[in-house]
Amino acid sequence: MSVSVGVVGLGYWGPNLARNFGALPDSRVTWLCDGDSDRVERLAASFPGARGSSSFDELLADDDLDALVIATPVPTHAELARRALEAGKHVFVEKPLAQSVADAEAVVAAAATSDRTLMVGHLLEYHPGLVRLKDLVDAGDLGEVHYIYGNRVNLGKVRADENALWSLGAHDVSVLLRLAGEEPAECHAFGESYVRDGVEDVVFCFLRFPSGVSAHLHLSWLDPHKERRFTVVGSKKMATFDDMAIEQKLTVYDKTVDQPYSSYGEYIARSGDVWSPSVPNDEPLRLECAHFLECVRDGTRPRSDGESGLRVVRVLEELQSSLKAGARAPA
Ligand SMILES: NC(=O)c1ccc[n+]([C@@H]2O[C@H](COP(=O)([O-])OP(=O)(O)OC[C@H]3O[C@@H](n4cnc5c(N)ncnc54)[C@H](O)[C@@H]3O)[C@@H](O)[C@H]2O)c1
Repeated sequence: MSVSVGVVGLGYWGPNLARNFGALPDSRVTWLCDGDSDRVERLAASFPGARGSSSFDELLADDDLDALVIATPVPTHAELARRALEAGKHVFVEKPLAQSVADAEAVVAAAATSDRTLMVGHLLEYHPGLVRLKDLVDAGDLGEVHYIYGNRVNLGKVRADENALWSLGAHDVSVLLRLAGEEPAECHAFGESYVRDGVEDVVFCFLRFPSGVSAHLHLSWLDPHKERRFTVVGSKKMATFDDMAIEQKLTVYDKTVDQPYSSYGEYIARSGDVWSPSVPNDEPLRLECAHFLECVRDGTRPRSDGESGLRVVRVLEELQSSLKAGARAPA
């Protein structure tokens, strides 16, 4: 079965999704849609078989269209995804699923009623390096996980409709929940708005999970470094996933403090091998798009399904409340 796909939102990210769905053997791009018709025209030459439109409703009315891929600004995600599901379409919607738990729940409910596939574009969950890291954690190679921290910083695009927590943190929270395998019991966040009033450009989050795992996230688009990194510290070993590394994205450190030296009442750190498990060089976006098509075809649940997208929004909403509660008083 070849899945017919309509891509909605052709700004920065949408054309990447269109390129991937256009290149996969199981799908064909039959619609290109953007409120700005110039953007539709610009991309049309690369997709000669696709119709163009600036009206989302026109796509909903096409009975031959199987799936909608939504890459519009975040405030529009929930409504467009819900309407597409109600019209009987399968939906891939970019992250985060919605800007509130209530909106995310409405989309998840629409997917259940329509019995259509709902997948959220939590891209990093399809990254072969992070999949391998999750396998190491689940196999107990690192021992008991103590804590995890993520760094997602650079001098980046300052968005007007999202702060660094929602824009950057949507990625990290999805990875954190996947690695921890549970939802946090406590979420705290502090942030500052240096570039644009009211839009936090640097955010520090601290989370505690029921199992005892804790986590820290440093999110910023006002930073001299470009870092995309996760570190997991376990009772036996430690591991780092570094998405900026060209090779050796995943490194395992056989290091810990596990040798009691009772006569001195001190502990000796053990520092053994450092090694880099091999990670397939497949493009995460291609894997993510292929996974969506497979789920549509087989009726299976996506790894980043609506429920998992909802869990991410729940954590982001809690972090946002904490951010607001701890905000600096106006000068
Ligand atoms: N997975 C990733 O790594 C990744 C990376 C970048 C962006 N994104 C996500 O992709 C989405 C889009 O981000 P972007 O940077 O491309 O934004 P953008 O502003 O560059 O593009 C959004 C486009 O959507 C169009 N649009 C808005 N409302 C519309 C509507 N109702 N119907 C049709 N078109 C509409 C706009 O005209 C614009 O062309 C966001 O959700 C963002 O979080 C994901």
